[in-house]
Amino acid sequence: LGTGSGIHHPGVNVTDAVTMWLRAGGAAIDTAYDYGTQRLIAKGVAAAGPATTAPFLTTKVPSSSYEKAAAHIDADLSELGVAAVDLLLIHFPSLRMESTYDTWRALEDAYLAGKARAIGVSNFQAKHFEAMRVRKPRVWPPALNQGSLSVGYRDEATLAYCSRAGIGYMAYSPLCGGPNGSSCRHGSVLAIPEVKAVAAAHGVSAAQVALKWIVQ
Ligand SMILES: *[C@@H]1O[C@H](CO)[C@@H](O)[C@H](O)[C@H]1NC(C)=O
Ligand SMILES: *[C@@H]1O[C@H](CO)[C@@H](O)[C@H](O)[C@H]1NC(C)=O
Repeated sequence: LGTGSGIHHPGVNVTDAVTMWLRAGGAAIDTAYDYGTQRLIAKGVAAAGPATTAPFLTTKVPSSSYEKAAAHIDADLSELGVAAVDLLLIHFPSLRMESTYDTWRALEDAYLAGKARAIGVSNFQAKHFEAMRVRKPRVWPPALNQGSLSVGYRDEATLAYCSRAGIGYMAYSPLCGGPNGSSCRHGSVLAIPEVKAVAAAHGVSAAQVALKWIVQ
């Protein structure tokens, strides 16, 4: 399980949230070049102290030119204060798939240089994977696709494509969902009556039910 660090929620202190997350036994932290929370995360990890396990770090860079993508990757690593991240993703496919492919080449080089232990994508659908695959990338398939997935929302076609292609699937907005992530078209998953009923029947929290549903 990982915590996000997008600053969509005014008043949330990312540094404190990361420290609390790690002290509570949280394993992973997710950021992105566009979030600008890398330095706050590094501070939160340092404050959590050596007794906590080093977190599994994910970051994402926007579709861009090769040179800009390479610079975004280096900036992320430097601000996070690490030599390598565990997972490096393309944040969104571009309408111009050419720049998304150029960005993938920068991810491949980062992977081959040891700056990322795995590389993948986010918010991709089958057509985006196919547009990349036909160009015969050096590293393929991507380790995973990070997408909106929750009791309230799932993209069945993309899940099926990824399963067939051997591409993992990592859920974001697991307690909320909807195509716009935090916009929550279906409202909070924690308020869905079925989720609440299952939680009550098993004596656990609605959040535990919602997360377990994804894993299962
Ligand atoms: C967030 O928390 C950190 C650590 O407790 C603190 O140093 C920092 O000032 C806080 N940031 C804001 C914007 O309140
Ligand atoms: C998602 O965001 C777009 C652009 O802001 C908006 O037009 C659309 O209505 C939103 N969809 C949902 C389900 O919230």
